[in-house]
Amino acid sequence: EFDELCFEFGLELDEITSEKDIISKEKGEEKAKGASDVVLYKIDVPANRYDLLCLEGLVRGLQVFKERINLPKFEKIIPAEGEGQRLIVTEQTAQIRPHAVAAVLRNITFTKDRYDSFIDLQEKLHQNICRKRALVAIGTHDLDTITGPFTFTAKAPSEIKFKPLNQSKEYTASQIMDLYRTDSHLRHYLHLIENKPRYPVIYDSNGVVLSMPPIINGDHTKISLKTRNVFIECTGTDITKAKIVLDIMVTMFSEYCEKPFTVEAVEVVHPNGKTHIYPVSTALGDLCVLRERASLTQTLETPSSLAKLLTRMCLKSHVTGNGNHLEIEIPPTRADIIHACDIVEDAAIAYGYNNIQMVIPKTYTIANQLPLNKLTELLRLDLAAAGFTEALTFALCSQEDIADKLGTDISATNAVIIANPKTAEFQVARTTLLPGLLKTIAANRKMPLPLKLFEISDIVVKDPNAGTAFFPGRCAEVFVKGQSVGKLGVVHPDVITKFELTMPCSVLEINIEPFV
Ligand SMILES: *[C@@H]1O[C@H](CO)[C@@H](O)[C@H](O)[C@H]1NC(C)=O
Ligand SMILES: *[C@@H]1O[C@H](CO)[C@@H](O)[C@H](O)[C@H]1NC(C)=O
Repeated sequence: EFDELCFEFGLELDEITSEKDIISKEKGEEKAKGASDVVLYKIDVPANRYDLLCLEGLVRGLQVFKERINLPKFEKIIPAEGEGQRLIVTEQTAQIRPHAVAAVLRNITFTKDRYDSFIDLQEKLHQNICRKRALVAIGTHDLDTITGPFTFTAKAPSEIKFKPLNQSKEYTASQIMDLYRTDSHLRHYLHLIENKPRYPVIYDSNGVVLSMPPIINGDHTKISLKTRNVFIECTGTDITKAKIVLDIMVTMFSEYCEKPFTVEAVEVVHPNGKTHIYPVSTALGDLCVLRERASLTQTLETPSSLAKLLTRMCLKSHVTGNGNHLEIEIPPTRADIIHACDIVEDAAIAYGYNNIQMVIPKTYTIANQLPLNKLTELLRLDLAAAGFTEALTFALCSQEDIADKLGTDISATNAVIIANPKTAEFQVARTTLLPGLLKTIAANRKMPLPLKLFEISDIVVKDPNAGTAFFPGRCAEVFVKGQSVGKLGVVHPDVITKFELTMPCSVLEINIEPFV
């Protein structure tokens, strides 16, 4: 039943397992994976649906889809003048990690499960949208242990000193880097700031270190099950993604606040004195008018049924105007909605792909197989019928494979040579299929004879006529009365570099003799 529900909602139930340590298995790390009694549902979520990465968001989405609950109304509470939290960004951050956004969750109630989910979501966001913390790093802190305003700055590693999360004593930033050099998890993030003259760091008004993003939080502000007020900061190099990450964190976990789905805004003060209030919803704005989607509305009978479908997908909609327009609210959870087609996709999911009627397209294009592909397919069938086994070998091979071993010189092969090959086995694009097949046979010497193999595939050779001074596709030849008199175009970057120039360059060259 759940499998079916997932499918209807546009997701895929990958597998049901009782293995505990799925996450560490995916990371390729060898950890104890003792089977537990807990049944786990592994669900495939589209990469841009950050709102489905935790149980809170997934269950909420499914409940709205099943029309068991209404989509929650998220509310941003802006504290009275002088009462809210402020995060002051100094100009020193500019060279290393210039952006910061923040928000507060008030009167939240954690339980073990909620807390684990809270940590788990941060880790998942860190791995995908945050690009392993390079673009954004999330820090969450017990607000009752610190006093604002907070300062986000960057300092020399020797000047930063604090007790990192779970450690028993203070270390300088340089010592912290050494400490985590062997940490199976944190060592992957050290390179993001190592070798930089200044490291990013966030202080409270008493000099307490909240975090040294993107490496580690301070121990002082550690969240526990008893934490009531959470200060969330996201720092990074990509402000758009930082805003999305903050939106996702607060929309998912404000559910557990005393006033559910409320978030307290934080004022961020930039080095130039300008201020911004966060969180801001990063989605399209509040309203989006969907027009001219006649084909879909035809399938769906009426605009009002389309509105109903979209509302079930958490895109609250109603019919406006002359009855042909929809007003759609994009909630802050849906940063994946960028264009109208994203909305249409959701409508189609809710309608059910299997319920969409097949129609003949209105465009008159007759599809046809390429003659080469057709011949290839026929040859494949016949060769297989004649008892040959098809091999599919790598398109890249070593220089030796196509030259020395075949008794030719590499310069005579016209091969495309890779500038920075990762291994000696992949230095050039193959100019013949022979080495691949011979290597396949070599690897299958134990198999009973005869070995009958075939391969029909592409090879790559340089076109000796392709050499030009111009950028391909951006040049033309000048003709006067049928006679070529010159060329014009954009000069090829290679040529520009060879003349030690750095700017793009266009030229026109004409032979004027014919005009005399
Ligand atoms: C949080 O709890 C405190 C103390 O009970 C109360 O004064 C405050 O109004 C609450 N705030 C919110 C946003 O729930
Ligand atoms: C800190 O300790 C907690 C509880 O033992 C653990 O779950 C967490 O992974 C630790 N964090 C770091 C960064 O060491």
